[in-house]
Amino acid sequence: MSAHGPAHDPYETRGRLQGAEASDEFARWRDLPPRLQPVEPPPLPLDLARLLHRLRLRYVRQAGPAILARAGEEGWDHAHLLKVLFAEEAAGRDRSTREMHRKAARLPSGKTFDAWDPKASAIPGDAQWALRTLDWIGRAENLVLVGPSGTGKSHFAEAIAHAAIDRDLRVSWFTLETLTATIARSRIDASTGKVVERIVRSELVVVDDIGLLPAGADEAEALYRLVDAAYERRSLILTSNLHPARFDSIFPKGLATAAVDRLLHHAHVIVTEGRSHRLTEALDGHGVQPLPGPTAI
Ligand SMILES: Nc1ncnc2c1ncn2[C@@H]1O[C@H](COP(=O)(O)OP(=O)(O)OP(=O)(O)O)[C@@H](O)[C@H]1O
Ligand SMILES: [Mg+2]
Repeated sequence: MSAHGPAHDPYETRGRLQGAEASDEFARWRDLPPRLQPVEPPPLPLDLARLLHRLRLRYVRQAGPAILARAGEEGWDHAHLLKVLFAEEAAGRDRSTREMHRKAARLPSGKTFDAWDPKASAIPGDAQWALRTLDWIGRAENLVLVGPSGTGKSHFAEAIAHAAIDRDLRVSWFTLETLTATIARSRIDASTGKVVERIVRSELVVVDDIGLLPAGADEAEALYRLVDAAYERRSLILTSNLHPARFDSIFPKGLATAAVDRLLHHAHVIVTEGRSHRLTEALDGHGVQPLPGPTAI
């Protein structure tokens, strides 16, 4: 107890009252802004909800009750109300298209720039920021990230891919293995041309991990077909442990030379040198969550 009566905790008081009544009453007592807890707005009339359903205005239907309640409270004019309702629909549809693009892109691990430490990367800071603007995708330029294992090539490529999707660009993600399998499958029904054209509908196509697994004629053909179809039309990101100038050491020579020639004509080649980020984390003991109990092995 304090000198001014019971020192009651507002949150305790709120628990004894119900819904809107609770928050409004509580606000009056404590001189706080009303509606600490949002009030459930009345649902849309059934015939209106049905009409919105029929017209496929899903987001107006979802946000309608709250928007109408707010329009009433704040006395919006009709034009403003219509604008807010349709803006809600447009924003909802944009969000849903973006999520569809993200699913279709099949990005491997969900790594974005949120988890990226620019200072821990060997990519020069200026280059990182220039690449993050995505302007180079608008110019159909390529990005080749070359460097040893664990130096952030795939993470950076994926973060760029997420950023591109956030800007409403379409992205396709492959490893050299999945690209080769996709092209090889298309040979069965002679649809290779169509399949490659479908891939380069994406504004950005990533081929990750070139050089990690053995490559042969099929891999070289797949890469050549993609690079040729994308040449001066679309952007590619390639990540590799090997500089493209040395691709002929893993691919059959003729196709490799033709692919690399087209690839490098408009490409930013960035070398990610240094120690493996994976190894650094493992050696610092950050590679795993510590197990409970004694773990002396
Ligand atoms: N600058 C960075 N900021 C945050 N995390 C990083 C950074 N660089 C690397 N990592 C992390 O280190 C790990 C290895 O990175 P990544 O998989 O991108 O390496 P890589 O160069 O593609 O290796 P590999 O050639 O073996 O495929 C990942 O967990 C990644 O998130
Ligand atoms: Mg990688």
